[in-house]
Order: sequence, then structure tokens, then C-alpha cells
Amino acid sequence: MKYRRLGKTELKVSVVGMGTWQFGGEWAKNFEQAEVNNMFAAAKDSGMNLIDTAECYGDHLSEQFIGAAIEGNREDWIVATKFGHKFHDLFERDTTYDPTLIIQQLEDSLKALRTDYIDLYQFHSGNDEMFQTPGLWEMLEKQVAAGKIRHLGISIGSNQNIFQTELASSVNAKTIQVVYNRLDRASEEQVLPQCIKQDLGVLARVPLASGFLSGKYTEQDAFDQTDVRSQWIDDTKRLNAIRQAIEIKKNEVSQDVPMAQWALAWVLKNDAVTSVIPGCKTVEQVKSNAAAGSLETVSDEHPQACEL
Ligand SMILES: NC(=O)c1ccc[n+]([C@@H]2O[C@H](COP(=O)([O-])OP(=O)(O)OC[C@H]3O[C@@H](n4cnc5c(N)ncnc54)[C@H](OP(=O)(O)O)[C@@H]3O)[C@@H](O)[C@H]2O)c1
Repeated sequence: MKYRRLGKTELKVSVVGMGTWQFGGEWAKNFEQAEVNNMFAAAKDSGMNLIDTAECYGDHLSEQFIGAAIEGNREDWIVATKFGHKFHDLFERDTTYDPTLIIQQLEDSLKALRTDYIDLYQFHSGNDEMFQTPGLWEMLEKQVAAGKIRHLGISIGSNQNIFQTELASSVNAKTIQVVYNRLDRASEEQVLPQCIKQDLGVLARVPLASGFLSGKYTEQDAFDQTDVRSQWIDDTKRLNAIRQAIEIKKNEVSQDVPMAQWALAWVLKNDAVTSVIPGCKTVEQVKSNAAAGSLETVSDEHPQACEL
């Protein structure tokens, strides 16, 4: 596994981290604690130390699974979670950035994660008005001073949200989380260059294009109604993504690397990107994704490269 410094923070993160939306029950699978424990054991064995979760992957459900899985070695992990969404039911949440409600959400996340600090607390993809909620960032700064949060970050909703990215340092946010993958390169235009300018850490989310860049889907594979992907990927989008992935596999992916690993390493080539956070559903996916973190194509000359 290779490591990079997370922007201006003192944190050193594995280039491949664990995305954990999947534990919330919206990806056509319900998890048991034993399987989650095995996934984190495999992640740790492979050198991973970064976890991305959120308040609304289930009602703090993903955080609960993680808390129980890493309780015995909490200090070995860098845990990133988020605030601002309230989960109600599968595929249903609303947003709240009222500082008093966010304090409660922070306490709920700490409890679920069985910890007394969060390494990275990220604004969860609210719009620009929500971003400017009076008192929000001041309240968060107090939680940093109190030691409940180590660093603040912003997970931008649109991958072209330059407004929030430009304001990051002014609200003491040290990271940006953004969609970036071989099928969606919009953040290359403005957001990623702005991250370099401010020396922000970048967590690249959806690095497998929701699974399409694993190369395993065929035109016959439609998503089940219990799979969140059925909510926003209609047939046109699905077929388009599958056809693009087939072309990429033919023209760009070398034969000796599984396509998912190639796709993660492709994201990690960008000078702005600190880590990829692929969502995982099985121990095998954890192991395979982690293996991308030691590919030769992941350069040791990257501007954020560091020793652990
Ligand atoms: N607004 C936000 O802040 C926000 C939004 C979205 C995501 N995120 C974060 O980013 C993470 C990653 O995004 P994502 O999970 O939406 O998309 P993703 O990482 O692009 O795709 C994840 C899916 O790809 C498939 N997959 C994973 N590893 C694989 C492998 N080695 N081989 C074959 N298939 C594999 C799995 O689904 P199947 O096996 O079922 O295909 C998995 O559910 C999330 O888990 C979450 O932590 C944050």
C-alpha cells in the first residue's frame, strides 16, 4: 500500500480507502456485523487506514458497523464521516445544516462510531445556501477546539462546485471530496486545480463509476429496485456507461490487471488526488481494491506521496 499526506493536515492516508455507503442497506444487500468485521480485517491487512462513511448511510447504520469493527484498534484508522443529511427510509433523506441540529448529529456519529473524536468531518453535499448557514462553521470550529473533530472537509455535491471549493480554506476545511473517475472527468476543469492551489486533500469518490468501471456489467444486467443505482441510472445511462466501459477495457486496460484496479490507479495518477474511496460489498472487493494501492502505475513521485 502507498500513502499520501492529506493536504495540509498531519494525516497520512492510504491511497485506497474504504467507501462504506454500502453498509447502509441501499445497495441491494443487508450486512451482518461478522462480514463487516472480516472486511475491515482484510482492509487492515492490506495496509488501508482510511474509511469514508456518513450520517445517512442508514440512520447512522454504516457508522455503527464501523464502530463495532474498529473499536479494538480505533487509533490505527482515519475515520471520515459527514453531516447535514437525515436518513428516513431507503432512498429517503432530508437535509439540515442548523448548527444546533448538527451538534446533535455529531454526538450521534461519535456514539455510533464508538469513539470520542472524528478525524475528518465533512459537509455533506449541501447547496451553496446551506454552505453559508449562519453560525455553522463557527460552531464546527468550536468542536475542533474541543477535540471532537480533528479536521473539517467538504464533500461537494456537484463535481463542478467551484464556489464551495474556493471557500474551503476560509472555513478551515482542509479536504474536498468529489466524484472523479475515468467516465466523469468534470472536476479536472476547475475543482482539482483549485484544490492544488490551496493544498487541499482530495478524496475521489465513486472511482469505479458506481461499479461500471469494474468491467463486469453487460447490457443485460439491470439494477434491482432495492439497489440505489436504480434510482438515478436509467436504461440510457446504464447502457451508455456499459458501452464506454467496454471500449475502455479494449483500448486502455492492460491484460494483466483487473479493470477495477486499473480504474482506481487511473484516478490516483492525478496530482490533486490524495486517495480513492471505492465502495465495497465483499471481502474479495476489499482485497482487490486494496491491491490497486501498490500497483507500479501509482507513482512514488506524486506530490503528496509520503512514508507512513
Ligand atoms: N455525497 C457524498 O459525499 C457521497 C456520494 C456518493 C458516494 N460517497 C462515498 O464514496 C464511496 C464510493 O462511491 P460509490 O460506492 O457510490 O461508488 P463506486 O466506489 O464507484 O462503486 C462501488 C460499487 O462498485 C462495485 N465494486 C466495488 N469494488 C469492486 C471490485 N473490486 N470489483 C467489482 N466490482 C466492485 C460494488 O458494487 P456491485 O458489486 O454491486 O457492482 C460497489 O458497491 C461511497 O461508498 C461513499 O463512501 C459519498
